[in-house]
Amino acid sequence: MRVVRTIADLRPLLRSLKEAGKRIGFVPTMGFLHEGHGALIRQSAARCDATVVSIFVNPTQFGPGEDLVNYPRDLERDQNLCLEADASVLFLPEVSEVYPTGFQTHIEPGPLAEPLCGRFRPGHFRGVATVVAKFFNIVQPDLAFFGQKDFQQTVVIRRMARDLNLPVEIMVVPTVRESDGLALSSRNAHLGEAGRRRALCLSAGLMAAKAAFDQGQRDAARLLEIARVPLSGVDSLQYLELVDAHHLEPIQGAVDRTAALCVAAYVGSTRLIDNVVLAPSAVEGLNVSLSPQSA
Ligand code: PAF
Repeated sequence: MRVVRTIADLRPLLRSLKEAGKRIGFVPTMGFLHEGHGALIRQSAARCDATVVSIFVNPTQFGPGEDLVNYPRDLERDQNLCLEADASVLFLPEVSEVYPTGFQTHIEPGPLAEPLCGRFRPGHFRGVATVVAKFFNIVQPDLAFFGQKDFQQTVVIRRMARDLNLPVEIMVVPTVRESDGLALSSRNAHLGEAGRRRALCLSAGLMAAKAAFDQGQRDAARLLEIARVPLSGVDSLQYLELVDAHHLEPIQGAVDRTAALCVAAYVGSTRLIDNVVLAPSAVEGLNVSLSPQSA
């Protein structure tokens, strides 16, 4: 695995791979990697000839008072995980490499960035879209891999790639969970033992609603009620919403199309998100979580 810190060093490496006809996969991350990232890297390695992983804690997607400064970091462990998951190139740019002095051009996502997390994190998806577009231009991957845990992020990025005709296929990989249901997240590192137990309320709420859905419950309000019961254990529930999986509009009445039940909540001072896809038919479900997404 090659470790590269500058765009100038990365470009010739990628050019030679492209010239040799290699298919390039890309996994953008902010580091403090876990098995969820491992799954993305492995998927990429299985489908592509070379996998580029970036580790970059992107300042433009953090709002004032968010956890940019305390974002957990462990480069040595990250490098080992990338190696084990079969990454070919690890790209570790400095902030000044990605945002040099004078930088002033951003990607402004549309209405898909407004509900859910967008309501509570103004500017977040503008920062995500901008850095992801930059990385797509730098790496020029054939396929890029994102985790379903950041559901709204996958929808915003897929839309951006289409709207800007970026020649990359967006692949969404299912959320990896601990055996007790907790979705893997770099932010779980901030939870103590008691916090971790309370964090289970998120997946418990989602799984309760999914079980009811699988048994035939289709009423959106009832599904939300079911999910809300275990969620009483969190410190503050930011949102719990059942939305159309493609347009992110709230579903009223019967769930008659693929939906995402999405939650954001605080456990102590740690903000956690999670979601589950509810697909009326198995085929639709696969479209949302395993393959290139279609709008
Ligand atoms: O999902 C993340 O870790 C980040 O939002 C991403 C896609 C790496 C952009 O900074």
